[in-house]
Amino acid sequence: ITSGNTWKGILINKKKDGSLYYESAVIFPIKAPSQDIINYAAVKRDVTNEKILEDQLLQSQKLEAVGQLAGGIAHDFNNILTAINGFAALSQMKVKKNSSIWHDLKSIQESGKRAADLIRQLLAFSRKQIIEPRIIEINVILSELEKMLKRLIGEDVKLRTIPGEKLGPIKADPSQIGQILINLVLNARDSIQSKAGTAREKKITIQTSERFLDQSFVQNHAGCNTGRHILISVSDTGSGISEDIIGKVFDPFFTTKEKGEGTGLGLSTVYGIVKQNKCNIFVESKKGEVRLLQFTGPVP
Ligand SMILES: Nc1ncnc2c1ncn2[C@@H]1O[C@H](COP(=O)(O)OP(=O)(O)OP(=O)(O)O)[C@@H](O)[C@H]1O
Ligand SMILES: [Mg+2]
Repeated sequence: ITSGNTWKGILINKKKDGSLYYESAVIFPIKAPSQDIINYAAVKRDVTNEKILEDQLLQSQKLEAVGQLAGGIAHDFNNILTAINGFAALSQMKVKKNSSIWHDLKSIQESGKRAADLIRQLLAFSRKQIIEPRIIEINVILSELEKMLKRLIGEDVKLRTIPGEKLGPIKADPSQIGQILINLVLNARDSIQSKAGTAREKKITIQTSERFLDQSFVQNHAGCNTGRHILISVSDTGSGISEDIIGKVFDPFFTTKEKGEGTGLGLSTVYGIVKQNKCNIFVESKKGEVRLLQFTGPVP
């Protein structure tokens, strides 16, 4: 600028309250008739919202690409796996029951089944799963799933459901809602039971409610539309998600769990399903509490 040129760029600036924001600035020199620079002028604009939306878009594009790749591999792999599992089952029938070969073949099939489960998750993530959406009452689905979810998390963790009142019907695939809730609830359980999450109270809460998404919400959240929506929120009293990994939790294969314990595909599967249903999912994390909010489509 001191050499007389205009500067354009994005700066990170601090507000009076100490919070940071992105500022798009154009700074140019003002010259006297003698061509000497006598002052500078700046035109500045707060572009934090644009920056947030851009980041969200990049994130979803990245996941889209990984999803396509994973889906392609998963599909072929699934075919190969079907052959492996099938022949192992056939061979098992041909040998004496409980012989050592019989047990080996059984192990092959057990591993094969685990691989098939993994592939199913990948296929869901890449949205290759066939969906059967229908008009449903979210609270009815929730009460149908409750028993199974309770069994899943074990006795020492409490599951509380708070169904919202007078919720309109939505269009969704109930088995996918189940898949989403299972993944979220399992993560919540893992976090509560982990050493880091010395949970005061071992509690998972699933809440449904209606929310009106207004213009200001939509401006800050890519891919949302204004209007009445159903919100499903799953929160837990576990370890919480720290700021530095919050942007990564939906990435395929991102996990903080021990080797062999987590695949890191849970939340990416959830993300895939949510997008397939034209919904949105957000994480809100305070220390010791994670809230995953899922907006399902507009209430008709
Ligand atoms: N409720 C939660 N509380 C704290 N951390 C969470 C929660 N949910 C997800 N996470 C973090 O996000 C990571 C990714 O979750 P994701 O479900 O995708 O994979 P995973 O749970 O590690 O593996 P898998 O789902 O195969 O068991 C987790 O490893 C964990 O660090
Ligand atoms: Mg998980």
